[in-house]
Amino acid sequence: MHRLKPSVDLRVYTKNPNVSWPRNILKKERNSKIASGKRSYPNFAMCGKRYYSKWVIFDKVTALKIRVLICDPIHQDCVKLLRDTGYGVVEKPKITKEELLMDAKNYDVLVVRGRTKITADVIAAGSSLKAIARSGVGLDNIDLEAAKKRGITVLCTPGAPVRSVAELAIGLMISLFRQIPAADQAMKQGQWTKSQLMGHELHGRTLGVVGAAGRIGAEVARIAIQGFGMKVIGYDVVDLTSKANELGFEISNGLDSLVERADIVTIHVPYLPSTHHLMDSSRIRRMKQGAVLINTSRGDIVDGRALLDALKEGRIAGVGLDVFHDEPPKEDWEKELVAMRDCRSVCTPHVGAQTQECQRLESITVANEIIRLFGG
Ligand SMILES: NC(=O)c1ccc[n+]([C@@H]2O[C@H](COP(=O)([O-])OP(=O)(O)OC[C@H]3O[C@@H](n4cnc5c(N)ncnc54)[C@H](O)[C@@H]3O)[C@@H](O)[C@H]2O)c1
Repeated sequence: MHRLKPSVDLRVYTKNPNVSWPRNILKKERNSKIASGKRSYPNFAMCGKRYYSKWVIFDKVTALKIRVLICDPIHQDCVKLLRDTGYGVVEKPKITKEELLMDAKNYDVLVVRGRTKITADVIAAGSSLKAIARSGVGLDNIDLEAAKKRGITVLCTPGAPVRSVAELAIGLMISLFRQIPAADQAMKQGQWTKSQLMGHELHGRTLGVVGAAGRIGAEVARIAIQGFGMKVIGYDVVDLTSKANELGFEISNGLDSLVERADIVTIHVPYLPSTHHLMDSSRIRRMKQGAVLINTSRGDIVDGRALLDALKEGRIAGVGLDVFHDEPPKEDWEKELVAMRDCRSVCTPHVGAQTQECQRLESITVANEIIRLFGG
């Protein structure tokens, strides 16, 4: 972590008439005054990371002029919390790569969501950069190696989207099993397609959770077991024993055996070189006839072309996708996958974390993380 040195005169105060002296300062100062024979309190004292005067308070942060650039659309609570704490915040939620390359040198902290890519050249251009804060989870839009080389701290808010993403995964399962999008579309066209819409219950089905030790995977398992009475089998690269005991799911001894047994496979692993096409063509082929696959993690964890083939050949019944190889999809095969009719694919435009609750929690968490790092 960077050691921060005051860059401006510490005697510059911001006015805050409502500040009262902290008790411990009063006590300390009163004792020292009594000892030194002086009667009044001093005008200036320091407590922890804050400097207090009799009439005004200012933060070390203000004095240090920590400059934060918000590069993506973010809930205003983050901006408010940082500004109230004395940070200089500039919002450019539509900033382009070229603009960022020009601007980066003027900031200590860059706040991003998933849109802005913090590549090695952006990091090199940010000569004052001390931290990159990702509101959300999944650091694949940040060049972590380049950040590490420069000693730049990378922050994220992994806990915030858990419930929202887990609920979306379950929503995609219900949409596929009850063909809700197709039913709605038909109704809107004035058609009553009741006889064509025979669905299935989730209750009693076997759900295979890939990444079941993780935050989102475990939450999906919990909802599936407690809310729907599903049978859950989990797989992870880390030890699952305590999670499995806590939530009551079975541990699969391998990914292949999970995909062979599950009626629904749901993916909750990070995108890493080791998880690129984790669900490749051979694993998709191993899935049960008529099974369903849900991906709310990252597009390239699944081989999308192989998924399309499996759907076209009727080997699997459906896919629920929130994440894609290109966002939005560009290539013909991916457009075809999204356009599959009759609820064979149900797709959402990467909205896992798009809830008011999640956005607010992410924004407050990211601001608090920045404040924890720099003080205030
Ligand atoms: N759709 C969205 O909007 C959205 C929002 C948030 C997160 N996500 C995605 O969800 C993913 C999971 O998030 P999380 O908070 O649960 O992460 P997490 O780190 O808590 O859990 C990931 C789990 O995957 C496991 N894992 C890693 N490699 C594996 C492999 N090869 N096989 C099996 N398990 C493996 C890890 O051991 C870990 O337990 C994120 O990485 C992100 O890509 C998507």
